[in-house]
Amino acid sequence: MHKQVWVFQESIHPKSTQIWLNHPQNVLDRLVAKQQTIFLVDDKLPNCKELFPNHQKLYLAAGESLKTWENTQIYAEKLLSMLMDRGTMLVGVGGGTVTDFTGFLGAILLRGIKVGFIPTTLLAQVDASLGGKNGINSAMAKNLIGTITAPHFIWVDQNYLKSQATVDYLDGMAEVIKYACILDEHLMQLLEQRADPIINQDASMLSEVISCCIEHKMKIVQEDIKEKGNRKILNFGHTFGHAIERVYQYTHGQAISIGMRLAAELSLMLGTGITNEQVQRISNLLAKYQLPIRFNHGLSEVWDVLFYDKKKEADHIAFILLEAIGKPVIIKIPHEQIQRLMEEAVKRMNN
Ligand SMILES: NC(=O)c1ccc[n+]([C@@H]2O[C@H](COP(=O)([O-])OP(=O)(O)OC[C@H]3O[C@@H](n4cnc5c(N)ncnc54)[C@H](O)[C@@H]3O)[C@@H](O)[C@H]2O)c1
Repeated sequence: MHKQVWVFQESIHPKSTQIWLNHPQNVLDRLVAKQQTIFLVDDKLPNCKELFPNHQKLYLAAGESLKTWENTQIYAEKLLSMLMDRGTMLVGVGGGTVTDFTGFLGAILLRGIKVGFIPTTLLAQVDASLGGKNGINSAMAKNLIGTITAPHFIWVDQNYLKSQATVDYLDGMAEVIKYACILDEHLMQLLEQRADPIINQDASMLSEVISCCIEHKMKIVQEDIKEKGNRKILNFGHTFGHAIERVYQYTHGQAISIGMRLAAELSLMLGTGITNEQVQRISNLLAKYQLPIRFNHGLSEVWDVLFYDKKKEADHIAFILLEAIGKPVIIKIPHEQIQRLMEEAVKRMNN
């Protein structure tokens, strides 16, 4: 159990985020009792009606369909009618769609009010709630509309994960494996050697994994919250992943699992230094956590989305590849080479 305060180096509001991991509920009660707080709660959480009994609550239907302009308008008007003032704090309780949506509302209402998050999925605890990015989807692609505004606090309680569907929990493991691939050989070994207890949510294993991921992400984000430099490495697997998530309705974790496998194959093909053995290791680890490692669709529909990704540059796409496990590298691939390389990488994945 620990509390950490992460202070951001760049100018951003607020300047810091407190992260509380596995603390008793009365600490949270004290944290939110200091001001008027409105909880935005995922309506699929077990016992959601009993949570936070002494506070105002709105219930949300979580999922990508939450992150729209229409819902932004509906919830903004509802919240404004609840006698909010600048001192009001919004607390999003749910998975990444709820924290993204709550963060966005908090950033725009009254030109910015305080926000807290209680992430309830593994994906949200190790990734989505951390780092200040929030937003909604556009018709063109996911997450194109939003802000970077840090939450005041993030309350991480791994007990919430007990009610998560296994498939959703394993989806979050894709982001955990991402941190291992780009930053942490030790985490990689832990995930390989202790897969069963981690999959079965052994409390101390899980706490170690979550705490390690929070540290990795926050260390990067506090140096580069606006993603001008090193934060880009967190997109390992996401360039291709986001494109196929959009076209083929994969879940986020499934899509980035395939994206990471593809990035590993691309690394090998481009001779970054990674070995065949390391690529196999990544692939085996993803499979161990029941994540997909093959891509059995056509690529023709993927190109449009890929080239419209918000991270695209004029004549190339920057891919996060690996020189080795724990050693990411940004490689700019010119547009005219991308299709051929991807087709080849997909062939290698599917063999
Ligand atoms: N802002 C960021 O930096 C960032 C990073 C990664 C992902 N994301 C976003 O996160 C979203 C995906 O997050 P997610 O997978 O948590 O999705 P989600 O919020 O849709 O949650 C997945 C499902 O789990 C249910 N659920 C949530 N908590 C539960 C619990 N404790 N018990 C039982 N069911 C529960 C939800 O109702 C939902 O049906 C995407 O929109 C993605 O773009 C944001």
